[in-house]
Amino acid sequence: AQPWRGVITEYREWLPVTDATPTITLGEGGTPLVHSSWLSEIVRGDVFIKVEGDNPTGSFKDRGMTAAISVAAGEGAKAVVCASTGNTSASMTAYAARAGLTPIVLVPHGKIAAGKMAQAVMHGADIIQVRGGFDECLQVSRALAKDYPVALVNSVNPVRLEGQKTAAFEIVDVLGKAPDIHVLPVGNAGNISAYWMGFRQYADAGVADHRPALWGFQAAGAAPLVRGEIVREPDTVATAIRIGNPASWSLAEAARDESGGRIDAVTDEQILDAQRELGAHEGVFVEPASAAGVAGLLAAARAGEVATGQTITITVTGHGLKDIDTPLSRIESIVDDVIDPSVEAAAEVAGLA
Ligand code: F0G
Repeated sequence: AQPWRGVITEYREWLPVTDATPTITLGEGGTPLVHSSWLSEIVRGDVFIKVEGDNPTGSFKDRGMTAAISVAAGEGAKAVVCASTGNTSASMTAYAARAGLTPIVLVPHGKIAAGKMAQAVMHGADIIQVRGGFDECLQVSRALAKDYPVALVNSVNPVRLEGQKTAAFEIVDVLGKAPDIHVLPVGNAGNISAYWMGFRQYADAGVADHRPALWGFQAAGAAPLVRGEIVREPDTVATAIRIGNPASWSLAEAARDESGGRIDAVTDEQILDAQRELGAHEGVFVEPASAAGVAGLLAAARAGEVATGQTITITVTGHGLKDIDTPLSRIESIVDDVIDPSVEAAAEVAGLA
């Protein structure tokens, strides 16, 4: 088998690219679909985790960004702009660097994880910190793209969703069928919309024989889709999904309703517990926002809302190393024991002696 070539080449016929479109890729996609015996036992079904933190910049955003940056470069853009809670900017700046485009990013002042900030810095971005949240950053980005020669690459750019839908294709390709339920976190609501497009297109083309129900989970302090109204001051420890007015609001509602799914909220405590349990049980370290889907599935299972015998896939969206401050701040000390270099002492504190 030849090595994975990135989502544009692997799924070319499903994407809005032509022979004239350059392929700006870091080899994104082709991420692991890992069986979880821990979650499978809890839901009494078969649960697989789609580990999107294994993408080149550590999140699912790379799928949409390879597509959006390639199309923008093909159209002659010189500069690109996005608003971000950190992952979009990390990804955008990496792909812009490869394409030779000038990246401009707008992020909420003081509310993005240090690892994500470091990525944008190393990719040579102009980082503009905005006094406000993601929603305000997006407003300014949209206006910049309207009034100045700079292309907007947030998920309101439809090419982003086209790229991101390839994750749904991969799940079906690897499982050999569509899952019964697909679970994922929801923030600006682009990804749930993209998955729905992917699952729908595969079913329409006869590649899959059915479409899964989509179950999305927002953080309780930033759950506009659950509350049915804009949240003016969204707040959650999961900074990646700290969003009060999602751009893909109606697409997400359509994904929920057409798939027979649901969008619900989980608390910060549930998110952080799920993050820790996923790391301890499955060896998968994700950032807090990425654990929202796991937290939601656990809550649903405990409430008796998951029928037995189902095949469930769950996307964890970003790598845990992007934000080490949040999980470590819950732990009293990360150093259990300090010893002199002696076998006896090591054996004793390790409980081996
Ligand atoms: N998980 C992570 C790790 C994210 O970074 C995001 C969004 C989501 C989930 C939610 O996905 O917005 O498509 O519903 N991050 C954006 C950003 C907002 O700027 O990086 P969504």
